[in-house]
Amino acid sequence: MPGESFYLCTPIFYVNDVPHIGHAYTEVASDLITRWHRQRGDDTWLLTGTDEHGQKILRTAVANDTSPKAWADKLVQEAWLPLLETINIANDDFIRTTDERHEKAVLIFLQKLYDDGFIYSGDYEGYYCVGCEEYKQLDDLMETPDGDYAGQLVCKIHGRPVEVLKETNYFFRMSDFEQPLLDLYQNRPDFIQPAGVRNEIISFVKQGLSDLSISRSSFDWGIKIPWDHSHVLYVWFDALLNYITAIGYGTDDENFARRWPAVQLVGKDIARFHAVIWPAMLMAAGLDVPKHVFGHGWLLVGGEKMSKSKLTGIAPEEITDTFGADAFRYYFMRAISFGQDGSFSWEDLSARYQAELANGFGNLASRVVAMVSRYYDGRIPEPGEYLEADLGIQKTVTDALATADAAIETFAIHEAIAAIWTIVEELNGYITLQEPWVLAKDPADRERLGTVLYTAAEGLRALAVLLSPVIPDSTEKLWAALGADSLGLVQEQLITEAAQWGQLPAGSRVTALEPLFPRIELLVAP
Ligand code: MSP
Repeated sequence: MPGESFYLCTPIFYVNDVPHIGHAYTEVASDLITRWHRQRGDDTWLLTGTDEHGQKILRTAVANDTSPKAWADKLVQEAWLPLLETINIANDDFIRTTDERHEKAVLIFLQKLYDDGFIYSGDYEGYYCVGCEEYKQLDDLMETPDGDYAGQLVCKIHGRPVEVLKETNYFFRMSDFEQPLLDLYQNRPDFIQPAGVRNEIISFVKQGLSDLSISRSSFDWGIKIPWDHSHVLYVWFDALLNYITAIGYGTDDENFARRWPAVQLVGKDIARFHAVIWPAMLMAAGLDVPKHVFGHGWLLVGGEKMSKSKLTGIAPEEITDTFGADAFRYYFMRAISFGQDGSFSWEDLSARYQAELANGFGNLASRVVAMVSRYYDGRIPEPGEYLEADLGIQKTVTDALATADAAIETFAIHEAIAAIWTIVEELNGYITLQEPWVLAKDPADRERLGTVLYTAAEGLRALAVLLSPVIPDSTEKLWAALGADSLGLVQEQLITEAAQWGQLPAGSRVTALEPLFPRIELLVAP
């Protein structure tokens, strides 16, 4: 229902390295869904940010002869904030776990859990992977027969040796929440999505939950435990809290009540943290759990998750410098079923760019604008009586809107775009069949020509509104070229009203449209 709160959080990203297209993938999906809700009139908020404490960052900083804070500042300024520009993310906030507002609210949360008896001191003995920043069980590890780490236990994800910890730590009574979590998964089947991730998490929790070690005393890059400054908080406990500290937990009750609970979009690699530890923490604090935790798939390179540590990361600018931010956004959201893994290839990107964006959508826009210029002196014509073919376009728009809206509700982003794309296809077919260039030859067909071009322009108006969350730059250009500015900004048009026919005022002045997706000569991988 319009006006409802829609608060979406991305994971916060480690600043040990610069972003690759896997990180950008999460950002774009989050941004697209939030823009869609914003254009439905929901009370939206998009949060993203950086995860800056813990051993992984500390070690990177030391290796680079600097302090962890100086390292984080540099990476945030030079890499993570610029990423948002590169792929056109309209986030409302950017939180860093070194922000004072975060640290302050984390202390409030911790103290509450401690006072309420959910935290105790105990002995921890076990394995830890700094790459994952995670305590590991034996089945998370493997012994490598050869290579640099021959004979050692390595993390199955990072392929690097794990550390053996033996420390006195503070523990969170996570085991208390085993049954409440199972009840949550059962009572709210859409809490964890998609089904594959949900099943995996349910079977994990059914094996039994242990208490979680939440402090470390062997290094000091983290938030100090308020009642014992010789310990710092476990980096995941610290990081997960960003979702509530950023909206005023413990400091601004009104805003917190307005926004929380959130929709959490994460890669499936970290779904467990978000669907097990995080709701347990929230339950302990007497807070609502998230609305949904959606674990999306991975971008693969050579069949494996793209990652910097395996040197398979591709920088987003490598793609956007040539193809632009809109093509980046469109390609990844359209070509991969959201929730599934997907492989990136330059060939596939180039082919879709050419066929779908340049030839399918871009040409359609240019042709319609050019015909209005040529046949009506640059003014959108008045439509006459609508015939079946014209009404068919109106129905296509109505149906596409309904299908896309329902798809976004279930995170099926690729289906939403495919539904909207039926408008592109139908409009192209419509123009071919109606042959406005033939109608233009006979003054007796003047009214019919007006109806056809109005229908095409109005179809483009609807397309611009529906595609604005996907390709914000090009739809803005199209909007201006259609002379639709009198209706307000395209990104402020209500999606729910996009199919109401006749919004583009006859007489609006169109302006020349440069190709929205210009031909790219260099279509080979760099
Ligand atoms: N800092 C933690 C998250 C803390 S959230 C409280 C972390 N950071 S990360 O920098 O490693 O980024 C993780 C997220 O980046 C993944 O969950 C996923 O959303 C995205 N991706 C990283 N590599 C990816 C792919 N190869 N493919 C798709 N998404 C990827 O984990």
